[in-house]
Amino acid sequence: MSDSPNDSFIRYLASKKTVDDRALNVRVLRSFRDSLPASGPASPLRILEVGGGIGTMIERLLDWGFLADAQITAVDEQAGLLIEARRRLTDFGNAHEYRSSGTDPSSLELRRGEHLVRIHFVEQEVLDFARGHSGPPEWDVLLANAFLDLVDPQATLRALSRLLRRPALLYLTINFDGMTLFIPEIDSELDAQIEASYHRTMDERMRDGLRSGGSRTGRGLFGVLPMVGAEILDAGSSDWIVFPDRSGYPADEAYFLRWILDSHESALSKSTDLEQTRLVEWIAERRQQLERGELIYVAHQIDFLARLAGDHPIEERRSRASISPQWRVDR
Ligand SMILES: C[S@@+](CC[C@H](N)C(=O)[O-])C[C@H]1O[C@@H](n2cnc3c(N)ncnc32)[C@H](O)[C@@H]1O
Repeated sequence: MSDSPNDSFIRYLASKKTVDDRALNVRVLRSFRDSLPASGPASPLRILEVGGGIGTMIERLLDWGFLADAQITAVDEQAGLLIEARRRLTDFGNAHEYRSSGTDPSSLELRRGEHLVRIHFVEQEVLDFARGHSGPPEWDVLLANAFLDLVDPQATLRALSRLLRRPALLYLTINFDGMTLFIPEIDSELDAQIEASYHRTMDERMRDGLRSGGSRTGRGLFGVLPMVGAEILDAGSSDWIVFPDRSGYPADEAYFLRWILDSHESALSKSTDLEQTRLVEWIAERRQQLERGELIYVAHQIDFLARLAGDHPIEERRSRASISPQWRVDR
């Protein structure tokens, strides 16, 4: 790739948006929408998003009508991504009848009629952010999309739970869960070996003495959430499924796939349990499948909606059966 690492990561995150849009579990999304506390100009919803990247989740929630009055704190350790988030959200606001204002590069206000969404961008490592926060709990909602599989979920959620006003909602989405599939098959044994080695690289990653990612984060959250005091309200699969139609891959999803193949190549290039010449051939063959518009990619993930129990009684939640299966959430 010819662009800088920062530019290519920004483009990857942008290309991931349509993949996530399709993947997000609609039932869990509807449960999230139905569980959001009431908000208004005098009582905005206070949202904390960790690992927010270029702001695609905020954009999506605005676009899908989830946020009228909100104060959002978006935390990410990469300053370049937050600058891009501010730029994208300003563009989004301008295209959707919001008046955007604020000259401070670390914040943005989007006003529409009497409603105001204020976004504050914080460049910080998530645990440093959590540990550095003093004062009473501030936020009603925690968002983490495609993030908890990059950190130690238990340590992170435990630290963040101190910052949340109970009862708080946790909408934790796109948590990788142990299955990657490339279609068509090249060699079933080699395909399986590459999948297992790639997952191992996720499991072995460490940062500051803590696990930094895990290939089974999704299923692990069924245990971790109760351990940090959160009740699981809903869960459902949110698999990435990328495939071409007659006119090729949608949006910028060919780029998304190039990124996925590049990630496999760099993660596995030092792997001792793979014969490197076979890996090089496998990557080359997958890139050709992509160029020919034949490559299909599936990654299994799980979305969660949870609530941190508090002093207030937990409201009766809608029964899962009452949520009709629909492809699209009513806007
Ligand atoms: C896979 S990206 C997902 C970004 C965004 N949530 C999305 O779905 O497009 C993970 C994000 O988490 C950020 N990140 C990873 N580890 C972090 C940490 N320990 N503290 C803060 N941010 C972190 C990265 O900079 C990146 O923006």
